[in-house]
Amino acid sequence: MVPEVQRRLVSAILEVKPDVRSVYDPFVGAGTSLVASMRLGLDCYGQDINPLAVLLSKVKTGPFHCDRLDEYADEVVRRAKADASSAIEANFAGIDKWFRPGAQGELSKLRRAIRACPRWARRFLWVVLAETVRLTSNDRTSTYKLHARPDEEIEEREVSPLRTFEGLVEKACEDVRAHREELDREGFLRRGHYGRGNRIALGNTSAQARRLAGRRVGYDLLVTSPPYGDNHTTVTYGQHAYLPLQWIDLGDIDRRIDEEVLRTTQEIDRRSLGGRQDRATTKEVVEVLGAKSIALSDTFERLEDKPHDRTARVAFFYRDLDACLENIMAVMNDDAYMCWTVANRRVGGEEIPTHQVLRDLLERRGAVYVTEVERRIYHKRMPTRNGTSQTMRNERILVFRKQGSLA
Ligand SMILES: C[S@@+](CC[C@H](N)C(=O)[O-])C[C@H]1O[C@@H](n2cnc3c(N)ncnc32)[C@H](O)[C@@H]1O
Repeated sequence: MVPEVQRRLVSAILEVKPDVRSVYDPFVGAGTSLVASMRLGLDCYGQDINPLAVLLSKVKTGPFHCDRLDEYADEVVRRAKADASSAIEANFAGIDKWFRPGAQGELSKLRRAIRACPRWARRFLWVVLAETVRLTSNDRTSTYKLHARPDEEIEEREVSPLRTFEGLVEKACEDVRAHREELDREGFLRRGHYGRGNRIALGNTSAQARRLAGRRVGYDLLVTSPPYGDNHTTVTYGQHAYLPLQWIDLGDIDRRIDEEVLRTTQEIDRRSLGGRQDRATTKEVVEVLGAKSIALSDTFERLEDKPHDRTARVAFFYRDLDACLENIMAVMNDDAYMCWTVANRRVGGEEIPTHQVLRDLLERRGAVYVTEVERRIYHKRMPTRNGTSQTMRNERILVFRKQGSLA
């Protein structure tokens, strides 16, 4: 999602429906739609299954005590530099594969230093540490999939998490300050906090779309972009988060977090949409979904002569997406607009028409199709070898309205 596109989208909705107060993103990711909505003074609520996404989005919703953040940033760097301990603060299978001993030592010093700060500041500092981990691990970083660099390259590379963190944290403090100033200019801040409702939750939208922050009413607007397909074969958001999360205190993201999410490098992706092919057989899922969506039953026909796992991949993804739609519709207010940014992927050489499937599935749940806009994606880090990138050059924003009780 591009922030400016989302801001214009939400502004356009506000023009036709000025009484919109709250926005919900059930696949909140890095919080692009929320930031766009905050800058328009709306109550912002988001949910994601990936703890790193939740952390990022939480940080973007504040608080914004910038002078104190600058002080804590300096303090962490100072403390870490003065730390003489050689204790390693992470322990997971593969730590020596992914981190040189020197990098493990410096990341440990940073982790200890961050732990000495208050929680609101720690969250921001963990985000900076996450990026430090990404840049100083032995992962190639060119794709979302974990892939170690060749041994010779690892030997030759000089990495210093301390220096990397020092450079990143300064820039990150400036970014927070710029975000704060934008909100302040519009009068949306109260003593450094975003003055409107906001909450980001860690959760699985196929299991539950929540009325967050004790809301008794539903949401007025949905702005979201669901995954393109199962994470394993599209964008492995979970793998991307795996190494950073090993160095972050997970309880700072959510007190009730299930630490099993880091059981393997694949666990978050396995829990995401379409990541698990369990309970039902593919045949049963295909039958149920085919009856709900003509676009899907056509797709299953096109996949019939392909290897069986292609159909399964598509079927289980939409089974989970459809479960999300049920939960989402239950928390949206009548007449709420819903803006879905989607892209069609290819499976077994066939284009999967997510825009049509989503329309079929939402219409049978009482949503009215309003309009759509198509746009080209210019820069996205996608896997290039398996041809996924080529099929994702166009994104569509589909707009629906939940049918009101009187409609
Ligand atoms: C396309 S990304 C969203 C990107 C976001 N719009 C942004 O600009 O950063 C899809 C998100 O859906 C999340 N996701 C996948 N399955 C989920 C589920 N079952 N429940 C909640 N979130 C899920 C992924 O973790 C990922 O962050």
